[in-house]
Amino acid sequence: MSEALRHIAIITDGNGRWATRRGRPRLVGHDAGVAALDRTIDACLARSVGCLSVFAFSQENWKRPATEIANIFGIIKRFLCDRLAVALEKGVRIKVIGDRGRLDPALRGDIAHAELATAACTRLTLVVAVNYSGRWDIVQAANKVLADCDGTSPPVFDERTLASRLATSGIPEPDLLIRTAGEFRLSNFLLWQSAYAELFFCGCPWPDFGEKDLDQAIAFYRTRQRTFGGVPQRGAP
Ligand code: FPP
Repeated sequence: MSEALRHIAIITDGNGRWATRRGRPRLVGHDAGVAALDRTIDACLARSVGCLSVFAFSQENWKRPATEIANIFGIIKRFLCDRLAVALEKGVRIKVIGDRGRLDPALRGDIAHAELATAACTRLTLVVAVNYSGRWDIVQAANKVLADCDGTSPPVFDERTLASRLATSGIPEPDLLIRTAGEFRLSNFLLWQSAYAELFFCGCPWPDFGEKDLDQAIAFYRTRQRTFGGVPQRGAP
């Protein structure tokens, strides 16, 4: 049997276009995006994937119209509150990454509650990136390293020290990073963490993403020879 993936990261793109093509408001696409997330969580559980991370709201998404921003935060809030019982039942630990400083205090409370309530769940870790940016993550980690210095000796500033202060500390780096909707960019998601992720781009918009697409991405991943800069094993393709 193939080894289970430790971490799949997904840039869940194309909600807006999915709705617009149907002549519907963009919010309808985001709602359909939540249904796709529910399906993907179940598919990851069934495949013993250790961690699934999704980009729910980037720091660049503040450029969107105020009504769409409010809609997205409403969806995130409902997701954290309404899915809590199901997450507990299924063994899903919820972890939110991103700058919480700009978030509504009530949402910050919902995040803290969801994280605490699911802290002991071990089947799947669901990482939800909210007001996240990969560059922000690296800068905040560097600032933490500096803040943790005792002032008597120069700071230990190496990769391991910095990585331990990233928002994803304790979570394995993504093995596979998927982006939907035919875009070929990382858009500031998990920049440091994806240094050696295998990248899979699929044309379907996120609301249409299903088990078949996940299996296609995993099948692609299984064809890759991961050398991390080394040389292929003898006998490997
Ligand atoms: C991407 O499509 C979607 C978003 C940036 C926001 C919302 C994400 C979800 C609803 C999925 C995950 C949800 C939760 C609750 C964790 P887009 O609006 O960028 O689409 P477009 O590129 O077609 O305009």
